[in-house]
Amino acid sequence: MKTHNTLPKKIKAQSIDLLAARLADALDAWSHAKQAHWNVRGPGFIALHELFDKTADLLAESADSLAERLATLGGSPSGTARDVAKATSLKPYPHGIASERKHVEALCASLAALAQSWREAIDASDSWGDAVTTDLFTRITGDLDKQIWLIESHNA
Ligand SMILES: [Fe+2]
Repeated sequence: MKTHNTLPKKIKAQSIDLLAARLADALDAWSHAKQAHWNVRGPGFIALHELFDKTADLLAESADSLAERLATLGGSPSGTARDVAKATSLKPYPHGIASERKHVEALCASLAALAQSWREAIDASDSWGDAVTTDLFTRITGDLDKQIWLIESHNA
């Protein structure tokens, strides 16, 4: 799509592809946090139930920022469940688990993979000179790193 954004076309195209891939991961991770929110059981239920929902909210906000950066650069974000299922790089969230420890472990594994893919996106967008996209990935990765700490601390 035509845009007044003055970044060179080639840079925009690279960033759009990168943002599309990482958007799919973010939306997939959102669904993992919701799975944990709905399925966790145990004596610490309410704390984890609420923490997993806050995690889902954080991921939804991050996904929104990625999609809107993608649109800003002239791309068309694609975030339907079907598109996400095809494009995600995350491993599937395990079914049939209920315990707090297992959900903490499973969700942290998904979030750590997501944070790693975003860390690589920081370096990639930096390498082709899209500082605003680099800054966006840096900010959302910092928030995600902190969220992982808030969750993993339950399994100490
Ligand atoms: Fe809920």
